[in-house]
Amino acid sequence: MKQTLVLGIETSCDETGVALYELGKGLKAHKLYSQIKMHAEYGGVVPELASRDHVRKLIPLIRELFNENKLSLDAISAIAYTKGPGLSGALLVGTTVANTLGYALRTPVIGIHHLEAHLLSPLLSNPEIIFPFIALLVSGGHTQIIRVDQIGNYKILGDTRDDAAGEAFDKTGKILGLPYPGGALLSQLATHGDATKYPLPKPMLNSGDLDFSFSGLKTAVAQLVRKLDVEVVLRSDVMKADIAASFQESVTDVLTAKCCAALRVDDFSSLVVAGGVGANTELRRKINQASKKVGFRVYYPPIEFCTDNGAMVALVGALRVTEGASGALPFNIRPRWPLNT
Ligand code: KG4
Ligand code: ZN
Repeated sequence: MKQTLVLGIETSCDETGVALYELGKGLKAHKLYSQIKMHAEYGGVVPELASRDHVRKLIPLIRELFNENKLSLDAISAIAYTKGPGLSGALLVGTTVANTLGYALRTPVIGIHHLEAHLLSPLLSNPEIIFPFIALLVSGGHTQIIRVDQIGNYKILGDTRDDAAGEAFDKTGKILGLPYPGGALLSQLATHGDATKYPLPKPMLNSGDLDFSFSGLKTAVAQLVRKLDVEVVLRSDVMKADIAASFQESVTDVLTAKCCAALRVDDFSSLVVAGGVGANTELRRKINQASKKVGFRVYYPPIEFCTDNGAMVALVGALRVTEGASGALPFNIRPRWPLNT
């Protein structure tokens, strides 16, 4: 019997990701090209440059994926691509390639919600995740707490009122002189810092709901740096590390507390943490500690699949195939796409 092999394509922002997921077996192979170096020069993602780079990289990356695995294109049973949310031009590249390939190969083509891909990404290493669960989705563009009763049934319980957690990490990184995206670098810096040296606010920690707000925290860091003298801070590795540690302490305390509160609402006992900020070691440490203390299970994607990748898109595509989905021409994109619609 022919295997069910799904090609996944991710081009929603600044990563070109492709992957092959075999139904019943798991991830077969994946490849990722990151545009971060190109955008770092501008201090953030430049949408037009992102789309052009996807145009340059996507087809060669698909070719390499198949060549390295000694497969021909007709081995695939379906193609899954990120349909939204994301940057319009970037989404159009993956969408056009996926639908053109699907048309030529006469295979189903499935448009995937980028956030659904993130929040189901722990299934890549943990097929046994128990539904229902609460998901914390923390990326560069989103900070949400979602109730997941089953695949496809998502209820947003909490959201950020301004900056996303990843965005706050990146903006704070910039204040401390780190290149874009500062999140991972800031958390490395924080490992040498003293989180008690410059205590910062923990926004909405006791707000009584599941919402977040991080823009004031970033402003508090900017004010602190100004008060201490920008030049002095930027020259001092110790000060930068202490400020990074305080910032990280505030964000991870709030995220951990809101996860515990969300689990309590309906007495859920499983938590999934996904998205780029889910790679943060301190956040994982605090959530693991809470899981032992409170007694809930916690699942993360493998670190390499926390940030954008093709593997999570191929995985959700394979789940859709099992539900009998099949895409068709003509196609469209959804740069803005609420998860619960
Ligand atoms: O999920 P993702 O690749 O992109 C979106 O879909 O938005 O997440 C990227 C975000 C960036 O803001 C990046 O700085 C942040 O995740 N990030 C981290 C870490 N690794 C990536 N933030 C904190 N700690 C990390 N270790
Ligand atoms: Zn993402």
